[in-house]
Amino acid sequence: MTVTDFPASATRLELPPLKLGPITVPTPVVLAPMAGITNTAFRRLCREYGGGLYVSEMVTSRALVERTPESLRIIAHDDDEKVRSVQLYGVDPATVGKAVRMLVEEDRADHIDLNFGCPVAKVTRKGGGAALPWKTDLFTGIVQTAVREAAKGNIPLTIKMRKGIDDDHLTYLEAGRIARDSGVAAVALHGRTASQFYSGKADWSAIARLREALPDVPVLGNGDIWSAEDAVRMVRETGVDGVVIGRGCQGRPWLFGDLMAAFEGSERRFKPGLAEVSDSVYRHAQLLIDTFGDEDKALRDIRKHMAWYFKGYVVGGDLRAKLSTVPTLDVLRSLLDQLDRDAPYPGSDAEGPRGRAGTPKRTALPEGWLNDRGLSPVQQAGIGAAELDVSGG
Ligand SMILES: Cc1cc2nc3c(=O)[nH]c(=O)nc-3n(C[C@H](O)[C@H](O)[C@H](O)COP(=O)(O)O)c2cc1C
Repeated sequence: MTVTDFPASATRLELPPLKLGPITVPTPVVLAPMAGITNTAFRRLCREYGGGLYVSEMVTSRALVERTPESLRIIAHDDDEKVRSVQLYGVDPATVGKAVRMLVEEDRADHIDLNFGCPVAKVTRKGGGAALPWKTDLFTGIVQTAVREAAKGNIPLTIKMRKGIDDDHLTYLEAGRIARDSGVAAVALHGRTASQFYSGKADWSAIARLREALPDVPVLGNGDIWSAEDAVRMVRETGVDGVVIGRGCQGRPWLFGDLMAAFEGSERRFKPGLAEVSDSVYRHAQLLIDTFGDEDKALRDIRKHMAWYFKGYVVGGDLRAKLSTVPTLDVLRSLLDQLDRDAPYPGSDAEGPRGRAGTPKRTALPEGWLNDRGLSPVQQAGIGAAELDVSGG
């Protein structure tokens, strides 16, 4: 892999290791849980470049308790994953508690994160995801139960949330305090509201406010970190104890190498040429075959990564189209062999925003959801449905 020194003007920063209960994460960088992305294959690629905490795709607590094959696949870790990190999504304290107990009693995780950030309409319409912290009793019940069950195995439990439902219904400061008082090991904030989806800019000033409001628990900042320099800037501007990175590493697992360098005060940065990107794509596909045990499924999965990997590189429209519909590993090999392996790193064209963006929309909510911070009996009866078919944050 090509490694280039950054100009002397680049920022430098050294941050202490991140402490999550008994776990020490030497580089305070977290791979954001991303459904459909952060499986064992992608986590391995990222881990090979740098230190950090690599969170699995979210799993719904009900599916886990029911031991569906897909949920067991999601929580599986490679033998060399030192910190087995699992993210749970749930809408009722009893099921979340059972799922945490299962992870603890069966020794299936070293760190558990709870997802309160999903903005998808089919989830928030039922009162789940980013709509849930609005109902403070329910939110408190879920977090307290999860922390209590996790503590039985000395497993740190963290939460990840958005700022709130929309600008008029912010929940993050209150939810952060509730989580802190419940004994969480850290609180992560994505600086957007649910109604923003992935549009606009993440509000780092909210992250700074949360950091200030919770001096006694680690706070992690998330949203719009596209480079090591962005990560350093977030730490400087907000004072967070660590950063959480999602879309910025899609198609760029080497970003973890840059982040580690930056947090160690080094100015080394990965600047892969087309040959190195091509080798990563092939390796990613091979690892996905190991993950799924199914070449067809693996190749269908790698297709969505193509535009991210080749962003900014000269590939040609025809080849790009073929790569994004590649059917087999053999065809992938022959397509990658057609690339100009001498093409250098293209610079800024390969950098910057990537992945999901979307447009702001009013958040779909259950009838009367915003009228009251408590859960009505009708809402209580309806919320179970918010756990069906959930994928993402
Ligand atoms: C494809 C995709 C899947 C995601 N899945 C999850 C998820 O399972 N759990 C979660 O808490 N957040 C999920 N998120 C949100 C990210 O973890 C992160 O909060 C968000 O992308 C903002 O960070 P970024 O600007 O670094 O991407 C997902 C985001 C994307 C783009």
